[in-house]
Amino acid sequence: MDNQLLDKFDRLIRHRRYANRSEAIRHLVRAELVQERWARGKATQVAVLALVFEHEHGDLLHRLTHVQHEHSGLIVSTLHVHLDSANCLEVMILKGPGITIERLAEQLLSTKGVKFGRLIPATSGKGI
Ligand code: NI
Repeated sequence: MDNQLLDKFDRLIRHRRYANRSEAIRHLVRAELVQERWARGKATQVAVLALVFEHEHGDLLHRLTHVQHEHSGLIVSTLHVHLDSANCLEVMILKGPGITIERLAEQLLSTKGVKFGRLIPATSGKGI
């Protein structure tokens, strides 16, 4: 790794408050392995999906709720927070085959009116 890249990496490590390079590299490698495993496997995975949307945007709330009911077997828990008079934040804990979780996330994230969304694959570190 060249020095310039290493300097930037060290700044990132400090910024993110990793104890040292090993800890940061372990975290990055694990994240990549989780991503890779997700792309290939049908094994049960866990993820967090966060969505921000306006609850009065057309029938968005109705559509999101409909999709969630159709995939209730994948959704372990949902937290809904009314952020302000217009916006809602929903956080879902998803558990199921990685590929199925990804499809559900894509369907929810691409729903018209969703302002922000992110799927975070999680791992206990077991087998990685
Ligand atoms: Ni709300």
